[in-house]
Amino acid sequence: MATVLVASNRGPVSYVLGDDGSLDARRGGGGLVSGLSAVSAQESLWVCAALGEGDREAVRRGIGEPGVRMLEIAPEVYADAYNGIANSVLWFLHHHLYDVPREPVFDAGFRRRWESYRAYNRAFAEALAAEADHGAAVLVQDYHLALVPGQLRALRPDLRIAHFTHTPWASPAYLRMLPDDIREELLAGMLGADQLGFHTREWASAFTECAAPAGPGRSRVEVYPLGVDADELRSLAHRPEVDEKLARLRDEVGDRRTIVRVDRTELSKNILRGLLAYRELLTTRPEWHDRVVHLASAYPSRQDLAVYRAYTTAVSDLAEEINAEFGTPDWQPVLVSVQDDFPRSLAAYRLADVALVNPVRDGMNLVAKEIPVVSESGCALVLSTGAGAYDELKDDALTVNPFDVSQTAEALHTALSMPPADRTDRTKRLAATATALPPQRWFLNQLDALRS
Ligand code: G6P
Repeated sequence: MATVLVASNRGPVSYVLGDDGSLDARRGGGGLVSGLSAVSAQESLWVCAALGEGDREAVRRGIGEPGVRMLEIAPEVYADAYNGIANSVLWFLHHHLYDVPREPVFDAGFRRRWESYRAYNRAFAEALAAEADHGAAVLVQDYHLALVPGQLRALRPDLRIAHFTHTPWASPAYLRMLPDDIREELLAGMLGADQLGFHTREWASAFTECAAPAGPGRSRVEVYPLGVDADELRSLAHRPEVDEKLARLRDEVGDRRTIVRVDRTELSKNILRGLLAYRELLTTRPEWHDRVVHLASAYPSRQDLAVYRAYTTAVSDLAEEINAEFGTPDWQPVLVSVQDDFPRSLAAYRLADVALVNPVRDGMNLVAKEIPVVSESGCALVLSTGAGAYDELKDDALTVNPFDVSQTAEALHTALSMPPADRTDRTKRLAATATALPPQRWFLNQLDALRS
């Protein structure tokens, strides 16, 4: 039995099934993994979903990490809950991504998928109820598991339950698109928690406004802006494999300036408008020709969804167009990497003169916090108002409206031209702010508040 439990869709480890039947464990990084390391492994349990064939096979063979329990959920139920509801409905609502003349459509198919979402949440609630010690603290993560707090409260009224939303929260107008009964179920699920956490005040107030019609509940709404662990990040960024990638990038870039971005190929990250801004910069400011390279890591995400596949293709196509339009035999203006290559991303961080982070809407965006910590010669941050990180970093960043391509192009020019002393000072302050609440503190602060 555990006294501290974490629940999330994606866990800290995943298994890859080899052709020869072998299982290879891959450990993930990220804020939650470092956060939970603040608690001893004996007292904690991380409940997550078995995501693919490899994970399912590991569950069947009884293979696993201590302190991690993977839930095997029927593949059709999982697909409907994860792709059909979490990523196609809740993600779209919270990020305001719908193309409203056509979407969303809440029909019988949607209601069937919602039942799967409910069942998938229930599987988590039941596992947590079975594993939690009396009075244990349970920290539920993200929009995949919005119903868990209410379901778990009904099963185990003795528990202390927290929920943390890593995305933005939809504005009331957006949330009202949901059918009334479903919206009420969603809010009641969340309000089953004692404590509801968000990365920014803006997302927390959006939730409070949305929940107001449900009346005053038991939940405290709090803001915990996740930051980065400078020592851990710097040591990762100086591993030999990163040094190798850096050497290769240096060869490609030469003595040109770099504009760096790193994202999942995610609709909300606004990669296309970022590329359009770079194109406009090269058009309006020809003095940058052959003097700058845009290093864009856009690693594929959620490729089961057609709209994500199309977006990934559009990103590669636009990068190619820009290279065809401006490139010369000696200069490729955009270098895109569409692989999940963390060492390359870290190498790009180290080389960054300018970081471009321009999401239309984003819960936090840790890239905006990581680059200033790792960049070697100080980097100017072009940051959109849509990023959660905007709230903390705006004073030392060049801030832009994510929809305004011309403004973004001008900000790139200003960033590239920033005097070195100014750039260094800003980078120092950005790094200090970015590391103000590192993952372990972020996690323990929530745990302390939940227990008090
Ligand atoms: C966002 C969500 C996380 C999610 C991550 C990657 O950051 O808040 O919960 O794990 O995206 O998305 P994926 O669908 O691959 O887990």
